[in-house]
Amino acid sequence: MSEAQSDPGRRRFLVGATVAMAAAGVAAVGTPFVLSMLPSARARAAGGPVEVDVSKVEPGMMITQEWRGQPIWVVNRTPEMMAQLAKNAALLSDPESADSTQPDYCKNINRATTEHPNLLVAVGICTHLGCSPVDKMKMGESSGMGSDWPGGFFCPCHGSKYDMSGRVFKGMPAPLNLRIPPYTFLSNTRLLVGEDKKGA
Ligand code: FES
Repeated sequence: MSEAQSDPGRRRFLVGATVAMAAAGVAAVGTPFVLSMLPSARARAAGGPVEVDVSKVEPGMMITQEWRGQPIWVVNRTPEMMAQLAKNAALLSDPESADSTQPDYCKNINRATTEHPNLLVAVGICTHLGCSPVDKMKMGESSGMGSDWPGGFFCPCHGSKYDMSGRVFKGMPAPLNLRIPPYTFLSNTRLLVGEDKKGA
């Protein structure tokens, strides 16, 4: 009979030590496993590109799609809305979007691609303190924004106003135009938000 077999107290100690070592082994093996899962968890949190069907977005309509936890607006502007954009320049803080954030291919008056200039794709988050502006796309009195309102978006938190290209008006709390995310068209009716032809 061994010493451990003959001594119940020592046997308990050996069993306890074996369990502790096994637990440590699992922890040692488990840690790299958990670490190896982290990049994909991070990737999921970062969010991949999202496809948006724009086939039913009629002129004068907008839809909202989530991308990376942010509301992405897709607005189909009417010819009248498009014609108004050039007339707004003198009223805007950054009419050429020189200081604002958008892909190079959207750095124009429409803040859109040349293939689909009527479609505005913008992050619907106010550049002041991050509230969600509301749709005030109708022009004039019926918008509730006054008879000279040229159409756009209004942030109810502190009153910032943006035009139909998401460009902020002068004298507003918001410092910059709404952000434009990278995007590309997969077809005439399918949009990919979060990735463009340059892989941005
Ligand atoms: S958060 Fe929009 S005006 Fe302040």
